[in-house]
Amino acid sequence: MKTIPTFGQGTFRLKGQIVIDSVKAGLDVGYRLIDTAQIYGNEAEVGQAIAESGIARTDLFLTTKIWTDNLAQDKLIASLKDSLTKLRTDHVDLALIHWPSPDNAVPVAEFMGALAEAKAQGLTRLIGVSNFTTGLLQQAIDAVGAAAIATNQIELHPYLQNRKVAEFARSHGIPITSYMTLAYGKALQDPVIQQIAQRHGATPAQVTLAWALQLGYAVIPSSTKRANLESNLRAQALRLTDEEMARIAGLDRGERLVDPEGLAPVWN
Ligand SMILES: NC(=O)c1ccc[n+]([C@@H]2O[C@H](COP(=O)([O-])OP(=O)(O)OC[C@H]3O[C@@H](n4cnc5c(N)ncnc54)[C@H](OP(=O)(O)O)[C@@H]3O)[C@@H](O)[C@H]2O)c1
Repeated sequence: MKTIPTFGQGTFRLKGQIVIDSVKAGLDVGYRLIDTAQIYGNEAEVGQAIAESGIARTDLFLTTKIWTDNLAQDKLIASLKDSLTKLRTDHVDLALIHWPSPDNAVPVAEFMGALAEAKAQGLTRLIGVSNFTTGLLQQAIDAVGAAAIATNQIELHPYLQNRKVAEFARSHGIPITSYMTLAYGKALQDPVIQQIAQRHGATPAQVTLAWALQLGYAVIPSSTKRANLESNLRAQALRLTDEEMARIAGLDRGERLVDPEGLAPVWN
């Protein structure tokens, strides 16, 4: 069974030619995991960029996310097939539930069951969840078992370290994917991170990504710039000291950047 690569490329907010150029540049500099979602409205462009890159499908890891409108048992698989058409592939590597069903309109057991069925049909290699709290994660575990959940993709950066969810997932052997690891660029202005970066002759983005990787999280930073995509990848070679890790741990202030009304669950 494939496991999730620890370094991938995000595509949130990127549309049209911008996402095509970003994905092509990412693939060119060495990214092999592309993270998209039905709601991003860019699956077709991601599919186009991959096709134009000439990279073999077997060398790539594609993640998409099922939007909340498509969680019902009679919609989930059809929506995933639609995503596959746009992405120009017969399977994704990872299909995630993007957000839990608002007001629990579709029970967790129903959409996790449909997602497991999609996997059984070969439409995705792995399944997982995103934006799940400990309570929701427990319900997902009850539905399909912890071993079937390849990741919980959550907002996690120096200002929102999400330790309760991360610890709960770890105790069940479920890997965490950190989204917005750079706090959408905000962490790069942080004096502590800048100081550590200077010490290593690294960029603040590399330090932030290295911090998350060193905690055992997968990361999927996005960039519209080839130079940033390329330098971010090099975070994998950076090793922070225990003291530097502790200083970044001290930056947590519970600052959540993604909290959409009507969609977000009651957070831990
Ligand atoms: N599951 C979910 O609900 C969810 C929610 C949000 C995001 N995500 C996923 O997570 C991915 C990452 O999150 P994100 O894209 O919102 O935020 P992010 O990766 O934390 O930050 C991206 C921002 O940082 C800048 N940046 C990147 N590398 C840089 C560098 N080396 N130097 C300076 N600036 C740099 C980019 O600007 P430039 O373009 O100028 O480089 C961009 O503005 C998304 O693309 C998406 O795939 C998932």
